[in-house]
Amino acid sequence: MKIGIVGSGMVGSAAAYAMALRGSASEIVLVDRNADLASAHAQDISHAVPFADPMVVRAGDYADLAGAGIVVISAGVNQQPGETRLALLGRNAAVFREVVGALMKVVPDAIYLVASNPVDLMTYAVQRFSGLPTERVIGSGTILDTARFRVLLGDYLGIAPSSVHAYVLGEHGDSEVAVWSSAMAGNVPIAEFATQTGQHLTDEKRSEITDAVRNAAYTIISGKGSTYYGIGAGLARIVEAIAGDERAVLSVSTVTEEVEGVNAVPLSLPRIVGAKGIMAELRPDLDEGERAALRKSAETIAGLKGAIDS
Ligand code: LAC
Repeated sequence: MKIGIVGSGMVGSAAAYAMALRGSASEIVLVDRNADLASAHAQDISHAVPFADPMVVRAGDYADLAGAGIVVISAGVNQQPGETRLALLGRNAAVFREVVGALMKVVPDAIYLVASNPVDLMTYAVQRFSGLPTERVIGSGTILDTARFRVLLGDYLGIAPSSVHAYVLGEHGDSEVAVWSSAMAGNVPIAEFATQTGQHLTDEKRSEITDAVRNAAYTIISGKGSTYYGIGAGLARIVEAIAGDERAVLSVSTVTEEVEGVNAVPLSLPRIVGAKGIMAELRPDLDEGERAALRKSAETIAGLKGAIDS
């Protein structure tokens, strides 16, 4: 499948690199207003292709995106040390008005995958500015937070992250919700597993893990200026689920009809992702605390939609 990536900064280029090595795409076209940057990344990544399966990575402009099955949007500004994702909203909304307008002229039939932050509201922006159906406008959402949750839980319990079945829902940001109540290790509830293996999950340890997930980006940004490898691989994973019609359950964002009484709100739930984009959404059982936190997350995001609607 041909994949377009608009925004060839660290996230867009890391996504292209991950896709090249994982064989996620047959062709990747990198577009950036800085054509030299897109060209340099495309050349550099194309030199990795001989170590992977054959595919084509090239730079181009919007016209070169014609025929792309999926377009990733990673354009705009990213967080500076200590800056929240929501603080980027105004600047990136302005960028997205221009980008989406240009894309609709060339690839109106693609599935859109949004990575730029604040990703939930930027997903809402793409859906509003394009008028595309919600199932074809997907935000990377909490796919990365869910991965972080699984890594940290797996580290503590001594099992592979792939054997930890736990989700982060809601905003990809400070109000996100780590769902402990339905977390499983293999097919054993996480609390039961911890008891069986003698690694008691105290409330303090749960809070420690939850906070480490929520603050991971701030920690990484303070050390190296931005994050890109984790999100790049997460974007490649979503692309594979679409291109391969996997119908994989992934915690991704889209405009959601109603969540805990909040309507038309872009946030992450577990969703079935396949060839048509989002094919169904799952509503996991949540305890009262998790429901209240998800409602607060939905209200936080919904309260900022005006910056897009105006
Ligand atoms: C992060 C960025 C992608 O969480 O928001 O690393």
